[in-house]
Amino acid sequence: QQGGPARGAVPGTDFAPVAPNTQDAVVIPEGYEQGIVIRWGDPVLEGAPEFDFNAQTAAAQEKQFGYNNDFAGLIPLDAGGRENLMVVNHEYTTETHMFPAYDENNPTEEQVRIAWAAHGLSVVAVERERGGGFRPKPSRYNRRITLNTEFEVRGPAAGSDLLKTSADPAGTKVFGTQNNCSGSVTPWGTVLSGEENFNQYFANADSVTDPVAKERLARYGLKGTESDRKWERFDKRWDIAREPNEPNRFGWIVEIDPHDPKSKPVKHTALGRFKHETASIKVAEDGRVVAYSGDDERFDYIYKFVSNGRIKGGTSALARRHNMSLLDDGTLYVAKFTGNSPAGEIDGSGKLPADGHFDGAGEWLPLASGKKSFVPGFTAEEVYVFTRLAADAVGATKMDRPEDIEPNPVNGRIYCALTNNTNRGSAGNAGADESNPRVGNKHGHVLELDDDTTGTKFRWNLLLVCGDPNDPGTYFGGFDKSQVSPISCPDNVAFDRHGNLWISTDGNALDSNDGLFAVPVDGPERGKVKQFLTVPVGAETCGPVVTDEVVTVCVQHPGEDAEDPQNPTSHWPDGGNSRPRPSVVAVWRTGGGEIGRR
Ligand code: FEO
Ligand code: CA
Ligand code: CA
Ligand code: CA
Repeated sequence: QQGGPARGAVPGTDFAPVAPNTQDAVVIPEGYEQGIVIRWGDPVLEGAPEFDFNAQTAAAQEKQFGYNNDFAGLIPLDAGGRENLMVVNHEYTTETHMFPAYDENNPTEEQVRIAWAAHGLSVVAVERERGGGFRPKPSRYNRRITLNTEFEVRGPAAGSDLLKTSADPAGTKVFGTQNNCSGSVTPWGTVLSGEENFNQYFANADSVTDPVAKERLARYGLKGTESDRKWERFDKRWDIAREPNEPNRFGWIVEIDPHDPKSKPVKHTALGRFKHETASIKVAEDGRVVAYSGDDERFDYIYKFVSNGRIKGGTSALARRHNMSLLDDGTLYVAKFTGNSPAGEIDGSGKLPADGHFDGAGEWLPLASGKKSFVPGFTAEEVYVFTRLAADAVGATKMDRPEDIEPNPVNGRIYCALTNNTNRGSAGNAGADESNPRVGNKHGHVLELDDDTTGTKFRWNLLLVCGDPNDPGTYFGGFDKSQVSPISCPDNVAFDRHGNLWISTDGNALDSNDGLFAVPVDGPERGKVKQFLTVPVGAETCGPVVTDEVVTVCVQHPGEDAEDPQNPTSHWPDGGNSRPRPSVVAVWRTGGGEIGRR
């Protein structure tokens, strides 16, 4: 632990910060305890067998917790927060860690089917233990959504020729969701989840010769011949040469209704198709809803969608049905940022300009609304399905990998993690600008937007320019840098009840493990970053949920940094010589009590 003056008094952040480390463990502040909520392979559905690493089957995996948990959402079922639904994303599979023997050149059909079942989401009923964490329990709500689950395609691109395949000639039905990265719980009690790096699963993009189709594939990173996982050997939909439109059916925001285990999940085409990290909702004063979303790729964009319809309050079945339809009808925008300091003062080092802030104004550029396109040369359907190309055409601002984005429930401002972009300023790429002020940006930054919610204007500033506080090219909201924790590669953002920002990291470039940090965003301690926990070797921290008495994080891909993928660097959480298992962890105060309050 770090001692001394770093102890703060802001409610929610009053804990002794954890020092950077490289332990193969979850390290938490003094006076706190931790427990595993659920691990890859643990039973979710009735009849699920206990996990057996040496005898895993697709049938078992269909009923068990999936792999590589990323987002976690917590939906209380009672006022006291005792009974809850935990909804977790399973972003991708790491086959070399999942099987005792895995031949990358020749996966078996059963291994591939296990991987399909290990993707998607889990809905798990969890009970708050008195003065402790969360315990999963059998429940009629428990559900697995996998690559075999039927989704309904909705919104203005549903039924488009661009979405039709031989298995779905109507272009309205897709089996599965994948690469579900971050997400959010909506005010109406459903979950939004972003389909992110879907491109890696498709084979034979190189077989396409039509120049328009080639450009579209390339802009989404679809390239090459055989895929890494070779799924195309077992289902032709992963083969672009045989099913050219199948990739167009991924890269969407999906919505699931965890209150109704029989409900059909939805893909919302009105929010556009890109590598969605997440989407999160802010309700405008007039009741329209705004969904913010980032496209996590170097030099890609931040988007928002504004609904035409207005929210129905509550989380009743009626309200959920109505509010889910809001995301099918509205206007999709992309962000353009303008700095207020002379360009010459942004030297690419992270040094503050003369006005002392990286800040300025911004504009939301409309892309499409319903069947109307605002982008010359694009039909509305093309805007929705090839959103990146439409945003290129209108001159949106190229950002340093926009990841999680979320409104602060206390101050109303919007916070976005820009994780890093080491290519900023390299040959042939965009250089530094005031909103992405460092070339070779290894450590990322955190953006704060003051948005005219349903309008087209916003103000912005950088709350954090991350890294080692001893590096002059960092900024911690103006706070004394001798009193903050180092932070690198912000990925997910969340808020506690007090409006403090909690940030989890992925890819820490400071030679220590990733972790979770809390930082006040208002008042005299604005920018005082404090590390709450670190995760095991090779893992990223994601899915933070901060309630009054429990902090929940997902530990994703522990041990994945190994040079020999068959020999992971982590044996967490089972220890010994075991393979690592991505897991959800809860942290609470010893003896109970409020997080960050002494
Ligand atoms: Fe799956 Fe952008 O992290
Ligand atoms: Ca400025
Ligand atoms: Ca992420
Ligand atoms: Ca979040």
